[in-house]
Amino acid sequence: MKILVVGSGGREHTLCWKMVQSPMVTKIYCTPGNAGISSVAETIPIDPSSISELSDFGAEKRIDLTVVGPELPLILGLFDEFQKRGLKVFGASAEAARLEGSKVFAKEFMARKRIPTADFRVFDSPDAAVSFLKSKECRYPTVVKADGLAAGKGVIICQNRSEAEDAVRKMMVEKIFGASGERIIIEDCLQGREVSFLLLSDGEEFIPLASSQDYKRALDNDEGPNTGGMGSYSPSAHLSPGEHRKILDEIVEPTITGMMEDGRRFKGILYCGLMLTDKGPRVLEYNVRFGDPEAQVILPRMESDLVPLLLACAGGSLKGMDIKWSDGASVCVVMASGGYPGSFEKGKLVKGLNLIKEDDRLQVFHAGTSFNRDGDIVTSGGRVLGINALGETIEVARNRAYDCVGKICFEGMHFRKDIALDAL
Ligand code: AMP
Ligand code: GLY
Repeated sequence: MKILVVGSGGREHTLCWKMVQSPMVTKIYCTPGNAGISSVAETIPIDPSSISELSDFGAEKRIDLTVVGPELPLILGLFDEFQKRGLKVFGASAEAARLEGSKVFAKEFMARKRIPTADFRVFDSPDAAVSFLKSKECRYPTVVKADGLAAGKGVIICQNRSEAEDAVRKMMVEKIFGASGERIIIEDCLQGREVSFLLLSDGEEFIPLASSQDYKRALDNDEGPNTGGMGSYSPSAHLSPGEHRKILDEIVEPTITGMMEDGRRFKGILYCGLMLTDKGPRVLEYNVRFGDPEAQVILPRMESDLVPLLLACAGGSLKGMDIKWSDGASVCVVMASGGYPGSFEKGKLVKGLNLIKEDDRLQVFHAGTSFNRDGDIVTSGGRVLGINALGETIEVARNRAYDCVGKICFEGMHFRKDIALDAL
């Protein structure tokens, strides 16, 4: 069968790498892909938000299954457009993707279905928001969130009233996130440890994926600005079996059932960003896609063929299916461009890739690379590579990953040195 993967990051490289191993797959296209992806898929320069161009491509090539990496194409209705043309998609419909596309929608949904999350208020005027910030009901620190997508920058944790008023002004008056800040949420700041919990669903049945931890801050010891993710490991060292059960019963099951009850059947992958608080797990956010770099540590631990699972979510049933996981651990260290997550230069020559011997325990997943005119691999994004290793233990996987990181260099590169250290 022919597969189309939409996206260009480390997550999409990992998806292509995993699916090309399936005996069911004869060809993979990736739009637009990157230099690393071109070793496992044919890359085609179509922008992931050009839904009509993508669906023309899907129809012309008679694609059997389209797998969508990022959220934006789903929120823009890729699933719905492809479905009209009889093309199968692994991913959420536009109606279901609102779980990620609108934080107000997600919070109101959770409140209605009694899914544990931080207490919150919704505001559509800056005056009302500011008078709440002045009231006794508002506890500090507090969290101000833009309703819509904001390139990962729409959440501001505010230590005091002046920071919170500033956040409200930026979102609602200066409109730094455009229409995404027309409505905002002000919610309680939760304390605890964050975990990423991902699951596959056909809309009715669901199968959880292996647990994982992600490192969002740019610098060691969780300092510096927020990023897309500077590294990850799986399984999580912080999730007890009791918490795992609670997450399934109190969060996952009511979410999938609740979406079905509301006529927004959730098919595809649901990524719950959770805070493990002393009162139990709470939802921070929903995403309707694989995490990046969570996919990089989860998929190499999956011993089952991914393709039948994705097909079942797209148009069949997960009933009776399960997933086999390797017993060991997996660690991913992200190598980023100098300046990331702020502005950075592109086009830096990536040296040392030829020294790396990839095998079934070591993978270099490309996130932001391209070829220059001489055919050399150069940087083209903020996150450049994800070095991923498997091992019998976290420690073995971690050492293997960092050994490999030590062989690669490009001008200005930076990476965290403490990925998975808390799990040892
Ligand atoms: P989100 O885009 O909602 O995932 O938020 C981005 C990050 O902000 C999360 O990964 C958390 O680290 C943090 N965050 C979001 N909501 C809260 C909250 N209610 N309390 C504490 N931290 C939060
Ligand atoms: N690693 C966080 C995310 O994919 O949103």
